[in-house]
Parts: sequence; C-alpha cells; structure tokens
Amino acid sequence: MKYYIKTFGCQMNVYDSGRIANILQSLGHEATPTIKDADIVIFNTCHIREKAAEKVFSDLGRYNQIREERLSEGKSTIVGVCGCVVQAEDEQIWKRAPFVDFATGPLTYHRLPEILARVMRKRGDFVIDTDFPAEDKFDFLPENHASGACSYLAIQEGCNNFCTYCVVPYTRGAEYSRPVEEVLKEAKRLVSEGCLELNLLGQNVNSYHGEDSSGKERSLAYLIHKLAELDGLKRIRYTTSYPADMTDELINCYKDIDKLMPYLHLPIQSGSDKILKAMNRRHTSGDYLRIIDKLKEANPNIGMSSDFIVGFPGENEDDFQATLDVVDKVQYIQAFSFKYSPRPGTPAAIMTNQIPEKIKKARLEILQNKLFDYQNKFNQTSIGKIMPVLFETQGRHAGQLIGRTPYMQNLHAELSKDNLNKIVKVKVTAATTNSLTGSFIGE
Ligand code: SAH
Ligand code: SF4
Ligand code: F3S
Repeated sequence: MKYYIKTFGCQMNVYDSGRIANILQSLGHEATPTIKDADIVIFNTCHIREKAAEKVFSDLGRYNQIREERLSEGKSTIVGVCGCVVQAEDEQIWKRAPFVDFATGPLTYHRLPEILARVMRKRGDFVIDTDFPAEDKFDFLPENHASGACSYLAIQEGCNNFCTYCVVPYTRGAEYSRPVEEVLKEAKRLVSEGCLELNLLGQNVNSYHGEDSSGKERSLAYLIHKLAELDGLKRIRYTTSYPADMTDELINCYKDIDKLMPYLHLPIQSGSDKILKAMNRRHTSGDYLRIIDKLKEANPNIGMSSDFIVGFPGENEDDFQATLDVVDKVQYIQAFSFKYSPRPGTPAAIMTNQIPEKIKKARLEILQNKLFDYQNKFNQTSIGKIMPVLFETQGRHAGQLIGRTPYMQNLHAELSKDNLNKIVKVKVTAATTNSLTGSFIGE
C-alpha cells in the first residue's frame, strides 16, 4: 500500500514521522508524495497551543472529502492520527472525526504493525492506544536511516518540569534518556549513510542522563564529546534546552568542540521573575543572563535564540517590559514568540487573572518587531563574511540551492546540484530578515 504522513508541531514530531515511515516501509508499504494516492494517511499531531490542535481537526475535515472521493472510486483508505493530540484528546478524536480508523500516542507508535493489523481485520471499529507503556518504544522500532545530510536524533523524551502553561509533560510523559550506546549506534549508521549534521532532540535535551554500557549515567556534554569523535560527522546541534540544566560542562563544549555549532536555542519565556515563578520555571531572568555571559565567555561568537510567551496570566506592563529588556540585553539572532494559549488540564488555564486577547495581540506585535529588528541586524552583519554552508534542498528557481549557515540562517546560492548534501564555503552577498544570499567560494 502507499502511505502519506502529514506532520504538525515540533522537531520531535518530524523525527517520529520518520520513524513511523521506517515502520511502514518495514511492512512493505511505500511513500507517496500525493495524499490522494495514499491508502494509508497518518496525521502526526501537535497539542501545544489551541491553534495547533484545532488545525489538526480542520485539516482532518478537509482530508475527509478526499477520502470520500476515493471511496466513490472504489478505493478505501486507512486514516490514522498519531502524536500529542491523541494523548490529550483520547476518544474525543473519534467523536470529532468519526472516519478516523486508529489513533496512537507519541509513546506507542511502535505498536503500529499490530494496530494496522487490527484495523484491517475489523474495519469500522476505532482502535486507540494511549498507554504510557512500560516498554521502551525505541527497542521495537526498525532501524532509522539518513534521508539527507541533516538528521534529527531523539536522545531524550518527555519532561518533568511541569511549566504551568505546558501540555508536554502530559502528552509525552516523564523524562526518559536513551542509553549512550543506542544513541551512538544510531548516529554511526546515519553518518555512514551520508549524514553530516546531527541535531540531538529532546523536550528537555540538556537534562539527558543516559546510561553507558557499564550502567553509569552520562551527560549531554559527554555524548557530544563522543559524537564529535565520529570522522564523517561535521556538525552537532541539540534542542531544546532548559536554562536551569545548562551545566558548566555543557557550556565548555562551546570552547572545546569545533563541531558543536555556535548557535543555541535556550528559551526564557518571560523576562519577569514574577511571571517565571507563576510559570513554575526553575530560573530567574538573572540566572538566565548569567548563563549567557558564560556561554559568551566560552565562545564570543555564539548566537542565541529563544521562545517567548506574552500575555501569561497576571502579566502587567512592567512584566512585559522586563521581557523586552532581556531581548535588548541578549540581542537574539532568531526567536519564536507566542500569545499565551490556555490548555485544558494545565494549572495556568484556571488562573483567574487571564489577559484579554487584545492586549496579548498588541504585546506580541511589539515583541516580534523588536525580535525581527535584532534578527535583521544580525543577518546584515553577515554580509561580506565567508561561511561554511550545508546545502540541503533545491530552491524554487533552477540552479538555486538552499542551505544553512552555522547559525541556522537560510542561505540561497546559485549552485549546481552537485553541491547538494555538501558543506561548501560561501560569501554572503545580501541579507533580509529571513534569509541570506551568497556566492560560491570553494569547497
Ligand atoms: N521543551 C521545550 C519546548 C516546549 S514547546 C522547552 O521547554 O522550551 C515550545 C514552545 O511553545 C515553548 O517554549 C513555549 O514558548 C511555547 N508554548 C508552550 N505552551 C504554550 C502555551 N500554552 N501557550 C503559548 N505558548 C506555549
Ligand atoms: Fe513544557 Fe516546560 Fe517541559 Fe518545556 S520545560 S516541555 S515548556 S513543561
Ligand atoms: Fe507539539 Fe507534542 Fe511537540 S505538543 S510541540 S508535538 S511535543
């Protein structure tokens, strides 16, 4: 059969979709780029904000028309929903989209062969699996394979932090670190298949504490040192980090390991200590700024990125100003910012001092303008510099490739296809807020 997977949400979901594809391929199914041709359609979903979750249901509704068209042509489709919406909504999924055949959470998709067999045996019944299983899904997944020069590798999953706004501890469960040897084995295979850049993933990746073969717990810094020894691997990144878990050992990696890219996504969420406390974050804005100072000491060229939430319950003008002040101090080279979205079942959703939508909207606009200004400023200072760029995709125009600089900037260049999946030296010739243009200098 032919399958199509539509992915919503974070990089972990992108990784999971890759692993779901591994399972479907191991069962003899084949990917199709056209949803209309697919006999198995899977929505891998995100529940982080209301908009993200609602988009899943509106896209499912739209897809149902295609499913019905196929049915009228005598073709049946198996429709599945995976990911965080399943864990949060459970049977509600079936109530809102009754044509869905099965649903499985982020920790149970390794049971897909069994789930699909059940669906095929008794069509019409809804099959759902939202366990937090005792077994480790990674032990049951077929091998992962590189699909290009950049690969994600999940090393940690789940979260014990329980920020009061966030669904992740409920949808992905408690923190779990994959054993060191298992991570190294997957990394070696990806590198042997042409992966040049590894992005280590976890909801709280810098709290990684996987066991080595002697049973000793090892840190993310240890893992990065080990991975840096892999000859073919050229770039290492990791995301997402929690400020309170930024150890000196990890910070020092920015001084000692050239392969570790000088770009770090370290979400602060808010600059106000009052709001950080209400969010149940285990750091103040002062702690955060001290970490950045240390990072800059380790590598003065490090570029920072963050996530921000505006309009958290109780946020007043002073609190919001404190967030703007952090942005001015850190001068982020990239950032993601969101209006607070109350999520059912989280403590912040029932706080009484909710902020009106109009204020959230106005604050988001002010914050984003400031963030864009700094991002644009950084991109402008890149003009004239020679940078190593890893080209990953073809551009919209013939003869154009798109790649990433060490700072995760998108860069377009007129280059032949031979340079795809390679790192080449490029001189930056122009910049906008969102991307750079460059010309080829050499290998
Ligand atoms: N594990 C990561 C990312 C979690 S989700 C971390 O701890 O940083 C990605 C981002 O979504 C968060 O950093 C936060 O900025 C945002 N987010 C999470 N829940 C949200 C909510 N209820 N409303 C608005 N933004 C939210
Ligand atoms: Fe959510 Fe906080 Fe955990 Fe990040 S650290 S996943 S924001 S609970
Ligand atoms: Fe979304 Fe789940 Fe990732 S809620 S952000 S897909 S961990």
